[in-house]
Amino acid sequence: ARTVYHKWEVKYEYKSPDCYKKLVITINGRSPGPTIFAQQGDTVFVELKNSLWTENVAVHWHGIRQLGTPWSDGAEGVTQCPILPGETFIYRFVVDRAGTYLYHGHYGMQRAAGLYGSIIVSLPEGVPEPFSYDYDQNIILNDWYHASTNEQAAGLSAIPFVFVGEPQSLLINGRGKYNCSLSTASGSAAGVCNTTNPECSPYSLTVVPGKTYRLRIGSLTSLSALTFEIEGHDMTVVEADGNYVEPFTIRNLYIYSGETYSVLVKADQDSSRNYWATINVVARNPATPTGLAIFNYYPNHPQKQPPTAPATGPPWNDTASRLAQSLAFRARQGFINKPPVTADRVIVLLNTQNKIDGHFKWSLNNLSLILPQTPYLVALKENLTGAFAQDPPPDGYDFANYDIHSLAENVNATSSSRIYRLRFNSTVDVILQNANSMTVKNSETHPWHLHGHDFWILGYGTGKYNISCDWRKYNLVNPIMKNTAPLHPYGWTALRFRADNPGVWAFHCHVESHFYMGMGVVFEEGIEKVGELPSSIRGCGESEGHHRP
Ligand code: C2O
Ligand code: CU
Repeated sequence: ARTVYHKWEVKYEYKSPDCYKKLVITINGRSPGPTIFAQQGDTVFVELKNSLWTENVAVHWHGIRQLGTPWSDGAEGVTQCPILPGETFIYRFVVDRAGTYLYHGHYGMQRAAGLYGSIIVSLPEGVPEPFSYDYDQNIILNDWYHASTNEQAAGLSAIPFVFVGEPQSLLINGRGKYNCSLSTASGSAAGVCNTTNPECSPYSLTVVPGKTYRLRIGSLTSLSALTFEIEGHDMTVVEADGNYVEPFTIRNLYIYSGETYSVLVKADQDSSRNYWATINVVARNPATPTGLAIFNYYPNHPQKQPPTAPATGPPWNDTASRLAQSLAFRARQGFINKPPVTADRVIVLLNTQNKIDGHFKWSLNNLSLILPQTPYLVALKENLTGAFAQDPPPDGYDFANYDIHSLAENVNATSSSRIYRLRFNSTVDVILQNANSMTVKNSETHPWHLHGHDFWILGYGTGKYNISCDWRKYNLVNPIMKNTAPLHPYGWTALRFRADNPGVWAFHCHVESHFYMGMGVVFEEGIEKVGELPSSIRGCGESEGHHRP
């Protein structure tokens, strides 16, 4: 195994990803940041300098399990103190499995400011993939806001609440197109929005007729669930979150924030023209134009517009088709990692929106997560019991009396820093239960992401999970493993994982504003097996002999 070394400087710079100029968080001048290429078993070093001047930072390696290095997970408040302005922090971790992964800011809402990128881990020399393709291409999807993330966070925390709203544009490999005539007259006059800026010309993927492409597609949207398609081309899904899946062919891929997929696409259409690759918002009534890239058949000009109108995607509110695609995944024959047949513990998490002291929040079983000043990993390892609330959060909610279909105020919700402490090596089931939000007849889609593990997806269902019989519907034969799974409107999602990775791990909704509003929980397992903590993760909070005033 080799060592892959990256030296990054993180700072704000003016960029025009969708033709509208604003401050963007860049890594070495780029957003999305540089792709980390490594081989299975390699050790990755990222020496990260925070040049944001007035903001802290932390970067999470999304999908990397951090076996033996829980302090390198990058979850600020959970596994480390933030990296202070001017400071340099070194992340070191092993990429233990080939696949497609992501990285992004994990402090405040900085991911939405452009701090994100991809990690591609190849198989060891001589080990073949169980499918064949000619070329590999990386496609990272995002949604984009013109308001700064500080402005967004201020609105989310304000009374009255100001929602971030629908994004202004959708980005494919960091490029989108905002309709500049919509921005204020003074804005366009000042050159703030310029549709002819080459920075925002559409991403063009050049293909050679007859060849097969492996597209590694990842989404790091702040809010939007997306549908991705390439006009006139089938896609065969082969990988999800670093795990092989039984190949199946689709016309459109639903992708939720925090997910990655590999799809195989053959350039088998009329090669005299180009085709649109499109992303559209689903699961929310969209107010964002279609995101566009060009699927360019060589030797046509890469920027030559296809003669057709871009696809608008399936109806945004077709929950049934999204659920059907979620249910269609199976682990690939020959690569099935079977789940334990029973669980030692079942945690049911009721997902609700509510108000706490006049602030809008998201809660799980009436608790809305607030991260402590002292990262949990430090607090637990050093036995700093004053650092966070020690009483355990509840493993369920009042099933019998809760109507998930009606608007509920959930008046008993509180903010809390309580965590789930799991027995090391035990098997844990998490049932995510959706409900109506604080808007009449509305239930949102929440992509749930677990740090430090993959989980088996045992099942999805609609309505209220029935604890006495719904487990019979579980797929225990060939469920896929992932690190992110959607919770569909008014539905439930059942996950199983083994608590076998010593550390402290966040499990949260990957919608940036939802996590910011408390939509997450924290799991501890095997803390006594965690090796000595590097002192670099402790630039804040309580420690022996040092307390915050
Ligand atoms: Cu990609 Cu904790 O998130
Ligand atoms: Cu959410």
